Formats: sequence, structure tokens, C-alpha cells
Amino acid sequence: MFKKSQFLQIGLLSVALMTPLLAKPQVALLATGGTIAGAGHARTSSQYTAAVVPVTQLIADVPEISAIAEIHGDQVCQLASQAMTPEMWLKIGKQTQAQLDKEAIVGAVITHGTDTMEETAYFLDLTLQTTKPVVLVGSMRPGTALGADGAANLYQAVKTAISDNSANRGVMVLMNDTIFAAREVTKGHPFKPSAFESPNTGPVGDFHDNAPFYLSRVDRKVESPFDIRKLSALPGVAIIYGYAGSSAAQVRAAVQEGARGIVMAGVGNGNLNPDTEKALIAARQDGVVVVRSSRLGSGSVTKEAEVDDAKHGFVVGGSLNPQKARVLLMLALTQTVDLDRIQGYFDTL
Ligand code: SIN
Repeated sequence: MFKKSQFLQIGLLSVALMTPLLAKPQVALLATGGTIAGAGHARTSSQYTAAVVPVTQLIADVPEISAIAEIHGDQVCQLASQAMTPEMWLKIGKQTQAQLDKEAIVGAVITHGTDTMEETAYFLDLTLQTTKPVVLVGSMRPGTALGADGAANLYQAVKTAISDNSANRGVMVLMNDTIFAAREVTKGHPFKPSAFESPNTGPVGDFHDNAPFYLSRVDRKVESPFDIRKLSALPGVAIIYGYAGSSAAQVRAAVQEGARGIVMAGVGNGNLNPDTEKALIAARQDGVVVVRSSRLGSGSVTKEAEVDDAKHGFVVGGSLNPQKARVLLMLALTQTVDLDRIQGYFDTL
């Protein structure tokens, strides 16, 4: 027969063996504000204030996320994302990296306003060193609205971040039952829950049956060429919008303001009106790096079609939209002003 003390030992051993099996996966939840942290005064009103609900409340309001994961909340900032800055990208990037470097953390979820979410997502995609899932999530309606979308989006983001199938896919955005790659995603509508899209590639996955389902295989390179650990600011890069009759004054103003780079959101295939083209050639002579992209929102700007890129020293932005071309150019300028190297980044990242 067993003695009482032996029963106790067996009991303690079973608890020790079971604990890792019962322990929930640990997820870092970095909150930055946005409509997902917004509140309005009436369920049917479209008026609300973004970025007022703290991360502790976001976690408490969706108990389903704590049922599936141990959530480590971190309030990085509390901003509507129209107020997001490159300095804040660096802070978010460093804090996310610090969380991902912890062995126990299986993935990160970042709550963010939807207006500039695509820029933060691409910045993180270019700079985080990890194979773990990183999912940005927001909402188009505040939690106080009838038909609020934030709770379901947040739950799906956490569930996606703890899925074994989500590793090694780079940074993703989850909105409206849909998973997008950071490089390809853009916000395409001002208020509908289905606002997000990837015009060139489509989404990388869907969320259904309580799990993420990917439409493509893992093909993500892990190594990032950019190291933000010692950076406290990024080089200034302006975006100039092309239109019929646009003046060169915007380009000159950007150069006078000290921009080290200009992304031209040109018309059509990144085309430039003659005055703007002359001003950009002059900007090149002042050492400003010029990237040609397009205001069209889909497709790829091609080299040497109607513009003599080689002669003028213009970099061609490929399929990146102007706001994402700006993110890449800012990071590229932390390393080099060599046009071939910068073009190489645009061709591959
Ligand atoms: C914002 O980007 O912070 C406001 C809009 C939103 O989150 O949907």
C-alpha cells in the first residue's frame, strides 16, 4: 500500500507533468490606439473619439482572448493613427521586438488605427527579426457601436497569433475575417468593415471555423536588411501627388524643407508632368533620392517606359503604393544613397 507521503509525491509529480500541457500560449498585445480603442456616446451614432480605451479594458472586454492565451498587455501609445509618426514606428518596433525575443512569447498582436495601419505594418515587416506571428488588428467601428467589429477582429488576431500555421509569414493584418500580408494590404474604403484589400495579390488567408486558413504557402525570408536598434529618427521623405496641371512648387518646397527623399505618386505608370519632372531632376542634383510610384492604387510602375529613369537617376517603386514606397525609402536612406542598392531594395523587398 502507498503511504500518505507517497500519494502527495505522485500528486505533485502529476501536476508538474501536466502544467506545460495545460499552460496557455503567451501572446504580447501591444496597443497603440485607433478606433478599436474608440468610444462614442450612442450605439447608432457615427461620431466617436478614437484612442480612449486602455489596453487593460480591451483585454477585459473580450474575455475569449484570455481563455485561449495568456495575454501580456502593453500600452505603447494611445493615438488615432492619423497622428502616427516615424518616431512612433521605431518605438512600436523596438517594443515588439523585445517581446518577441522572449522565449515564452509565441506571437504578437498590435492594435492600431486603420488609417495608417498599412504603413506601420510594412515598417514592422521590413524591420522585425522573427519567425513568430505578428498580427496588426483594428476596427472600423468603435466598441460602443451597434455592429462593432473590434471584438471579433481582436479575438481572430489572437487566435491567428497562436496558430502553429502562422509562423514565418512576416507581419500580417487581420480585418473582417481576412488575413493580409503587410506589403500588399491597403485601406480602400473610409468606413466599411470590409475596408481592407490587397489589390495586386488578394489576401493571404481567411479566418473561419475558429481558425486561420492560409491560401498560400510560407515563402517569407526571415532576414531583414534593416536594423532599427540604434535609430531614434528616420530620414525625411515627402510624397508628392501628381495631377493634371500640378505645379513644381510642391517638389521645391519638399527640398527646401530638407527632404532627403521624394516619392512621386505620379499619374498612370508613374508619369510626371513636364514642370514636375524638371523639378525632380533639379532635386536629384541636390542629392535627393527620387522614387517614381503611381497614384493608381494597383499594378506595378515599370522602368524606362515614358520616363528616362537611368538618365535622371530615378528609382522605380514597382508595385508599392506611394505610402509604402516612402516607408521603404526612409529605411533605405538609413543605409545608403547608392541608387543601385536602393533600386535593389525596391526590386526585392
Ligand atoms: C485611426 O486610424 O486611428 C482612426 C480610424 C480607425 O482606426 O479606423
